[in-house]
Amino acid sequence: MRKVHDCGGRNLYHWEHRGTQGKAVPDLLIVRWTKNSLCFPVASVLLVIKSFTGAIAIIMPDAHILGIESSCDETGAAVVRSGQEILSNVVASQIATHQPYGGVVPELASREHLRAMVPVVRQALAEAGQTYRSVDAIAVTQGPGLAGALLVGISFAKALAFALEKPLIAVNHLEGHIHAVLLERRRSEDGELDFLVLALVVSGGHTHLYLAQLQENLWTYRNIGHTRDDAAGEAFDKVAKLLGLGYPGGPIIDGLAAYGDPLAVKFQTSQIKHRDRRDHGQPPTEDDGPRFDFSYSGIKTAVLRYVETENLGVAIEARRKALAGIGKPTLEDYLRLSDRQILDLVASFQRSMVNDLVMKTLAAAREYEVRTLFVSGGVAANRELRSTFEREAGMQGLPVFFPSRALSTDNAAMIAAAAFPKFLRREFVAMDFSAEAGMALR
Ligand code: KG4
Ligand code: ZN
Repeated sequence: MRKVHDCGGRNLYHWEHRGTQGKAVPDLLIVRWTKNSLCFPVASVLLVIKSFTGAIAIIMPDAHILGIESSCDETGAAVVRSGQEILSNVVASQIATHQPYGGVVPELASREHLRAMVPVVRQALAEAGQTYRSVDAIAVTQGPGLAGALLVGISFAKALAFALEKPLIAVNHLEGHIHAVLLERRRSEDGELDFLVLALVVSGGHTHLYLAQLQENLWTYRNIGHTRDDAAGEAFDKVAKLLGLGYPGGPIIDGLAAYGDPLAVKFQTSQIKHRDRRDHGQPPTEDDGPRFDFSYSGIKTAVLRYVETENLGVAIEARRKALAGIGKPTLEDYLRLSDRQILDLVASFQRSMVNDLVMKTLAAAREYEVRTLFVSGGVAANRELRSTFEREAGMQGLPVFFPSRALSTDNAAMIAAAAFPKFLRREFVAMDFSAEAGMALR
């Protein structure tokens, strides 16, 4: 998409050529203008010129989509303009609620979403300079996630859409993570994408590899790999809990790993050769092709064994108690309470996780001859993962894109952004749609 006219300092007009696989071809013109702008005459002139050249013309105004996210432990609301400009992005974290339990407690998550939803949505609208009436559509996460948590967001979104007579868009949370990358790519100078895209979505609940395609604003996805047991983020969280470091483990391990020796402890990650047992007995589908599955419960057990053989239990318990007495521990607190052995263990664990994620993803990229790589989801915030992907993908000549670290973890801007192509296609849902805890992405 390129800017062809700038009205009053705002990029009001864009035209783009889109063909199969998102490649630029000169057969489609999209002219877009902001509501209330005085630039309509310019759009008309462009359309007349283009119609003389035999092109198809589509006109559409900017769309302000209110996104709502409540799939896990963050209540999010955001307003995004036309899938590319974040006007607001409010996230109410429940970390303090779940911290004493060392993981997300579903019932508590639902209750916290109920408490936070209205103020978070109000704040998102106010920060965006929008009102309930002014937004063009409401988008909400349908799944995957915790059923009770999803239902809070869905019920609220339905009520808003019904009362305001606005279109309602259901978004897959995993597609949201992928669109967090696209949201920021669309804003960059060189927003063009080379397809095929391979997207690694790596979070607390998922470690999935998707081949992504775009045709006429329709994104389609094919899964070519998933975790057989624990997700990568789950492994970070469980290992941190095991070492008395607290919750959520990913950011804590990320911070501490830089101070340890990543080669001190040798960990093996599983190399999976056989097909997933859950797929047995299923008739072959067109999706059958090489798969690149992950498994992270083994490395968690290996850390547990190391803790037992090295008798680290007493030190771990002391650390757990000391951290429980600090409201919001800082990196300095964690460092003060971690000896060299723990720092080395944490650094070695992270190095193994990162190497496994990067090597399997790059093997999949070679196999499917992809042109672009996306890495998104909470674990994509990990600094070593980002730098290793950049280095290794760079050596393969493969461009790799991540969301900014703030957009890597759960947020509603990614939901509003993923809803925009559906808004263009008028892919709206009826009021009887419901949460899908195990929703697949296709
Ligand atoms: O995407 P997300 O916010 O929620 C889910 O959809 O699951 O991901 C949360 C996960 C947690 O497991 C958290 O520990 C992990 O992402 N995480 C990280 C980092 N920041 C968050 N893992 C490794 N390094 C990080 N910097
Ligand atoms: Zn997520």
